[in-house]
Amino acid sequence: MHAGHEHRGQFSSKLGFIFAAAGSAIGLGNIWRFPYITGQNGGAAFVVIYLLAVALICLPYLFGELALGRRTQRNPVGAIQAIRPNSPWVGVGALGVITGFFILSYYGVIAGWTFGYIFKTLFHNTVPFESFIANPWLAVPLLGLFLLFTVLVVYGGIQNGIERWSKILMPLLLFLILLLIVRSVTLPGASKGLVFYLQPDFSKINGQVILAALGQAFFSLSLGMGAMVTYGSYLSKKDNMVTSGVSVAIFDTSIALLAGLMIFPALFALGEAPDAGPKLVFITLPKIFAQLPFGTIIGAAFFLLLSIAALTSTISLLEVAVSYLVDEKRKPRKIAVWMVGGATFLLGVPSALSQGAVASLSELSFFKGKSFLDLMDFIWGNVSLALGALMLSLFIGWVWGIDRALEEINEGSGFMNRSLPGLSITYGKLWGIFIKYITPIIIAVVLLNVFQSF
Ligand code: PFF
Repeated sequence: MHAGHEHRGQFSSKLGFIFAAAGSAIGLGNIWRFPYITGQNGGAAFVVIYLLAVALICLPYLFGELALGRRTQRNPVGAIQAIRPNSPWVGVGALGVITGFFILSYYGVIAGWTFGYIFKTLFHNTVPFESFIANPWLAVPLLGLFLLFTVLVVYGGIQNGIERWSKILMPLLLFLILLLIVRSVTLPGASKGLVFYLQPDFSKINGQVILAALGQAFFSLSLGMGAMVTYGSYLSKKDNMVTSGVSVAIFDTSIALLAGLMIFPALFALGEAPDAGPKLVFITLPKIFAQLPFGTIIGAAFFLLLSIAALTSTISLLEVAVSYLVDEKRKPRKIAVWMVGGATFLLGVPSALSQGAVASLSELSFFKGKSFLDLMDFIWGNVSLALGALMLSLFIGWVWGIDRALEEINEGSGFMNRSLPGLSITYGKLWGIFIKYITPIIIAVVLLNVFQSF
């Protein structure tokens, strides 16, 4: 028995798990990252590839992560260690822990901007976005503050409280998004944005676009680094992980699609460029707020709710590294939380300074003149998640074994024993083919294609 196991809680109900997993999945990835990546990759055609990636690659793979976590009751490293001790596969779990740590470092920077924007909006501060994020005296403390919130929540063990709160607050965020969509699509000139976002031009698809879509799908569903292994370990044997997983994927994808519908019509109506990158949402949203009655209050409330959505995601990013240190290195939980939080802050500083504060970090000549933050996001938020998912699906399919994984998925659901409508093949058999062959091959082809073009 590993130390720390007795502290492992379990969600009181299936809904508890859905809220926590949806809390991890829904965050800046949906509202900040999805629109900007869509904008950079040509719009509607990217969205089509994204939806295919969610349905065909991410959803089957999600069941794999959840099953691995529930069976082993461990963090990603411990889960692999429990199945194939001291094998090189343990490195895959380690890659997940490291990826979570790096993602948190720059995710915290964007979350810090979001938090700062609550007050910027409320006090009618007119500093342009570019100057706001280029100011090191704002960007670094805001990163620190946001990481501090995350640390305090995980330290105090009040995740459950936050997740319960977010069940009240997230419908409110959804309501504001719907309101902003109505304003956005009724602006004069909005239709060009609708065409960009909804009418696919398939000639825009290439290897880079497909990797971006796949990476965004993994990022948005918190997959590829073992976060869902950790969350699966909190799922009870009685719960139906198939319906739970499907619900999380549907919630998450709907919010991302709605975020695009909120941004693109307004963006085109206001004459901005869709490929502005990470700053896209921060520049467009305040302009929509300015077009609304009570825009100040609505704007501040929006950034507050978005900060809370980001917090339920940063909690899960921190939790992966913390549960690794607690389970495997037998560190007391409270010490692990401060260690990881502090190290993440240091790692996040270069990203915070890469938006104009330090020139050499802001324009990397070897990365198309993009910033250090962009580089981190590409390496960890995209390539590393895809690589992690590739190796974890090979591990689940070939080392752990499809039969054992299916037994775990079926516990509490029985779904995988059913046959596809009108066919003699079961869902379980099809799932096995995906995890063993289709998923790893597709990810490998996409990754190889991109490395070749570098
Ligand atoms: N899914 C989160 C978002 O879309 O904002 C980001 C994230 C959280 C990615 C946790 C990975 C992860 F393990």
